[in-house]
Amino acid sequence: MSQNKKIGLITSGGDSPGMNACVRAVVRAAKINEIDVCGYYRGFDGVLDNDFIDLDVTSVAQIIQRGGTILKTARCSRFFEKEYRTLAFENLKQNNIDALVVIGGDGSFTGAKILTQEHGLPMIGIPGTIDNDLFGTDFTIGYDTAINTVVEAVDKIRDTAMSHGRVFVVEVMGRDAGFIALRSGIAVGAEAILVPETKTYIEHLLERIGKRRASKGSAIVIVSEGDDFGNADKVVEAIKERYENLDVKLTRLGHIQRGGNPSAMDRVLASFLGAGAIDAFLENKFGIMIGMQNKKVVHVPLEKAIKHHQDIDENLLKLAEMLSI
Ligand code: F6P
Repeated sequence: MSQNKKIGLITSGGDSPGMNACVRAVVRAAKINEIDVCGYYRGFDGVLDNDFIDLDVTSVAQIIQRGGTILKTARCSRFFEKEYRTLAFENLKQNNIDALVVIGGDGSFTGAKILTQEHGLPMIGIPGTIDNDLFGTDFTIGYDTAINTVVEAVDKIRDTAMSHGRVFVVEVMGRDAGFIALRSGIAVGAEAILVPETKTYIEHLLERIGKRRASKGSAIVIVSEGDDFGNADKVVEAIKERYENLDVKLTRLGHIQRGGNPSAMDRVLASFLGAGAIDAFLENKFGIMIGMQNKKVVHVPLEKAIKHHQDIDENLLKLAEMLSI
């Protein structure tokens, strides 16, 4: 039997482009340091079901460019129950896992943190979510690709919106966070951007849409699915009620935002953070999220990463407001 240290690796929660690049980086950085890596399928579900694969250098070849995750992913409902968390810990112990590396978002980190609290299992988090809503890292893995997907789609919508003189309401992902809406909205020159972090004043919005449509001939409204006024259906309804003669269409971009080949930015970020997790393991640093701040890899206490939910950038909000005249 190998005398090497061994880590368990999962991708968990909603998938994000770049997760594979991160898996590759974790495995290769581990192998260089003679650490074994056991990849569990479908996040915590795989840990509970003992569904895993021993990963080596070649098993992560040809995946850096692929979207999704070769380890598959899931939102594990069983993990809410204490008895299943105990089972997870026992399975990991039996498999000689020294630490668990979790690539995911705040839900996944919360699960892993409870496992540490209840059973003392060391863990390291890597931010993998298109939402970019984790505190302590400038960007999360998948965010850049997702906003580029939105931009590509909305540029196309803009063409037809202009040709027909229509108003398009485009719903983007972000249940609790408006980062996708805000950055992609600025990039496509949206006439209005609705994010959950700021209150939506519907009267103000309707007035703005009417004016922009009149001056420019068409208008694009980007709506975060979690906006406080409601989702895109509600926004379309309100516009139609106010402007009976306006041609209003709804496009819900949905899960195309989570797929596709990761951008160069996401591949490089994923590579840095994956290698950073192994550095942290070698330094015995646990209960942290590996983040990137000002181009430097940093360690963020997990507690902070989860609880402090990144604030929306006021400067970006102002910029969007100023330029959408
Ligand atoms: O957390 C990432 C995310 O894509 C959110 O933006 C979105 O609200 C959610 O996942 C959708 O999750 P599911 O694919 O489970 O419906």
